[in-house]
Amino acid sequence: MPAQSRIYLDNAATTACAPQVLEAMLPYFTQVYGNASSVHTFGREARRALEQARRQVMRGLGAKHPQEILFTSGGTEGDNWALKGVALARGAGHIITTAIEHHAVLHACQWLETQGFEVTYLPVDGNGLVSPADVERALRPDTILVSVMAANNEVGTIQPVAEIGAICRARGVLFHTDAVQALGAIAVDAEAMNADLLTLSAHKFHGPKGVGALYVRRGVKLASLLHGGAQERGFRAGTENLPGIVGMGKAIELATAHQAENAARMTRLRDRLIRGLQERVRDVRLNGHPTQRLPGNVNLSFAGVEGEALLLRLDLAGIAASSGSACTSGALDPSHVLMALGLTEAQAQGSLRLTLGTDTTDADIDAVLERLPPIVADLRSMRY
Ligand SMILES: Cc1ncc(COP(=O)(O)O)c(C=O)c1O
Repeated sequence: MPAQSRIYLDNAATTACAPQVLEAMLPYFTQVYGNASSVHTFGREARRALEQARRQVMRGLGAKHPQEILFTSGGTEGDNWALKGVALARGAGHIITTAIEHHAVLHACQWLETQGFEVTYLPVDGNGLVSPADVERALRPDTILVSVMAANNEVGTIQPVAEIGAICRARGVLFHTDAVQALGAIAVDAEAMNADLLTLSAHKFHGPKGVGALYVRRGVKLASLLHGGAQERGFRAGTENLPGIVGMGKAIELATAHQAENAARMTRLRDRLIRGLQERVRDVRLNGHPTQRLPGNVNLSFAGVEGEALLLRLDLAGIAASSGSACTSGALDPSHVLMALGLTEAQAQGSLRLTLGTDTTDADIDAVLERLPPIVADLRSMRY
């Protein structure tokens, strides 16, 4: 059998660090290694790099002031901080979120429920869309926060966050959006989205892992989760991950500069892949919104096929995909997102997520169209 090229179609789980990002980071391991809190030259050099990255992130997400950017260890921390930070600053109240959020939001909300906060989990329609009217109806006099993701990590549905944010603002309720999957894929602008808090994670847009940012609009009161030193203006203790932060600054600059062209190219490849599989495989359904979806997201359910089995066979065929959220793979429960969209358990178990990246090519799509259909046919023939 001829050697097959390996194709990575799991970019929603993580992306490769861009060479320019790595290059920007390297001096901060061995040359500019000072602690940004130190007063000497080494420290001041580190501080300058930290503040430059903060301005890059500020520009990348449409913020107005560098102080609105707080560096974190990634999306999970950003989501936890937004929810718990607002809740603990207020002391009591009601929170609205959706059934299809990432577990970083859902599990933080569940923990807040154990602390006496009330949480409403809004449903979504069959395409995974949250209704702004549902958000409006769920608002109560004691609602302190609404959290709706900008784009879903499993099915790629893009939410009407600007509209939801406007409703919240008109009612004086804080609005948080998890934009972890959105940055680089679609235009992200905290101001235009009417967001008070917004979460980012660098490794989803060709930055390094373990670093992210939380946008906090000026004037929003947020409790700290990490206590200790005075880093991040006293809001988040702990010596900053300077190489990671520098990498994130570079990554956001690259991602936003090329966002429109990357999105156009990936949308074309995505639609070619969806159409091609629908033509070659019977009984396949597209999960998520047909058009209002992330440029790189393909999520399909193959009737009569186990997603996990399909994944393993695809891996043997050199194709890296996912059968649900990477953060939940390993668990065999059907995806909470697909169940919220109204899929049956069998449809959810038969789902496959292929997420394209900025470097995905037509040849990659051709290879998937060639290798995937016979695997589905084979798995089906073993079952019936
Ligand atoms: C929508 C969303 N939010 C949050 C996270 C968590 O981000 P991190 O891996 O940086 O903790 C992810 C990661 O998959 C995600 O897709």
